[in-house]
Amino acid sequence: MFNIIKVNNEQQFNETGAGIIASLLQTNPRATLGLATGGTPVGVYKHLIELYKQGLVSFKDARSYNLDEYIGLPEDHSESYRRFMNEKLFNHVDIDPSNTHVPSGVSGDGHKAAAEYNLLLEKAGQIDLQLLGLGHNGHIGFNEPAEHLTAATHVVELDEVTRKANARYFNSIDEVPTHAITMGIGSILKAKQILLMAKGADKAEIVAKALKGPITTQCPASLLQLHPNVVVIVDQEAGGLL
Ligand code: F6R
Repeated sequence: MFNIIKVNNEQQFNETGAGIIASLLQTNPRATLGLATGGTPVGVYKHLIELYKQGLVSFKDARSYNLDEYIGLPEDHSESYRRFMNEKLFNHVDIDPSNTHVPSGVSGDGHKAAAEYNLLLEKAGQIDLQLLGLGHNGHIGFNEPAEHLTAATHVVELDEVTRKANARYFNSIDEVPTHAITMGIGSILKAKQILLMAKGADKAEIVAKALKGPITTQCPASLLQLHPNVVVIVDQEAGGLL
């Protein structure tokens, strides 16, 4: 079930997203957060850092589990998701680094690393709030459109659409990894609450498909229609076809 919040500008977008995460931490300081990377949450994390600096939120007792990581990028690579999280959020708030989790993309055996991450998730218990961005092809995490989707954390081959979209962060598309480790759809759907965020006109079509279209593995985000508690934050552009 979707609770759709349409905001008017970037500032509202970021403040609303950060506000939802902050109120969770205020009522449940030991919350388990599922976090995302990409362009969408950057401003949300920035605002959370401001709230932390103002003494309005603390991550001291929180734990976090990220959705995904590229295979083959060392943690200190400028585009690794571990580095993204450290730089965009973790280094600036009081979260205990040992309570932050991102799949390892450099263990040498991606499948083993995925299985280990999945075990970690199972031990962690239920994620209280899972933050999600939305890929242009309807992916969530790196669960790409396919005939079959996988429930648990697994290795995935990235779609060309995804590699092209993410090439903007690399020198060329050839540098974009071909594979990633991602939480599976089952793990995502197990979260108590999901916060899906999308902004920009280029997301309008896929937002409408995901929220109002048929439930299909060809649009993995459409499976969110089966979840009882999804908050969706869109700007006017991304929500234009709703
Ligand atoms: C990131 C992730 C991806 C992105 C999606 C949207 O951890 O799992 O699903 O959320 O590709 O990316 P942006 O926000 O860059 O449009």
